[in-house]
Amino acid sequence: MKPYSLHPDSIRRLFDSIAPRYDLLNHLLSLRGDLYWRKVAVQELKGFEGWILDIATGTGDIAIETVHQNGLHRKVIGLDFSRPMIKGARQKIVKKDLSQTIALTLGDALFLPFRENTFSASIIAFGLRNILNKEQALSEMVRVVKEGGKVIILEFTFPQRGLMRRLYPFYFERVLPWVGGFISGDRDAYAYLPESVSHFRYAENYEEMMRGSGLETVSSRRLTFGIASIIEGTKKRL
Ligand SMILES: C[S@@+](CC[C@H](N)C(=O)[O-])C[C@H]1O[C@@H](n2cnc3c(N)ncnc32)[C@H](O)[C@@H]1O
Repeated sequence: MKPYSLHPDSIRRLFDSIAPRYDLLNHLLSLRGDLYWRKVAVQELKGFEGWILDIATGTGDIAIETVHQNGLHRKVIGLDFSRPMIKGARQKIVKKDLSQTIALTLGDALFLPFRENTFSASIIAFGLRNILNKEQALSEMVRVVKEGGKVIILEFTFPQRGLMRRLYPFYFERVLPWVGGFISGDRDAYAYLPESVSHFRYAENYEEMMRGSGLETVSSRRLTFGIASIIEGTKKRL
């Protein structure tokens, strides 16, 4: 099999293949940190009434957490371009009896199938790093959000201080691709990861892109030594 690259077909193939083990891998490789990171990211949605769009929803954890924190009145759409990931999300949502609250759709983050100014917020968790044209994905996130609405990115970043600054690149570039490949049964599956964040290592990189896309009050918050970051901005009112 060809090694995975950041080409969209290659990325879709990767997520199609790891979908059944995705949750397990996630919790294991992050030592369950992913659950906490999503929780904190979703807290940033507090006070935003109306529909929320969870882009690259994967197995639906952000969408589910949004409903847990805000109640059943909060409507969420989860979008992903991998059918097996959406299938995994649907199974979880049905099991939790949340089908009335969370809708799922197959779609591409680069061409969102929604009108402008539709959602009160859009969020993407651990998705942007898999997308080569990050600017286009972000501009789509901004387009579909109402003026005054929020755009939130949760993404892996590199620690910038202390011992972790020196240790983490080794884990991310060597250990993680190896363990991920071993458990997923696909040696190439996680090998592309270091490449996927090579130009977007720090929250500042995302902040800069957000400002460039016309968002205001852009800020970021580092989680767990800066291994993950939440970067957010508000769509300008014209
Ligand atoms: C690492 S997973 C993150 C899933 C979920 N947000 C989470 O927090 O676990 C990345 C997801 O992005 C999806 N994805 C990647 N590129 C995409 C694109 N262009 N359009 C839609 N989904 C995409 C993949 O199918 C995968 O489900």
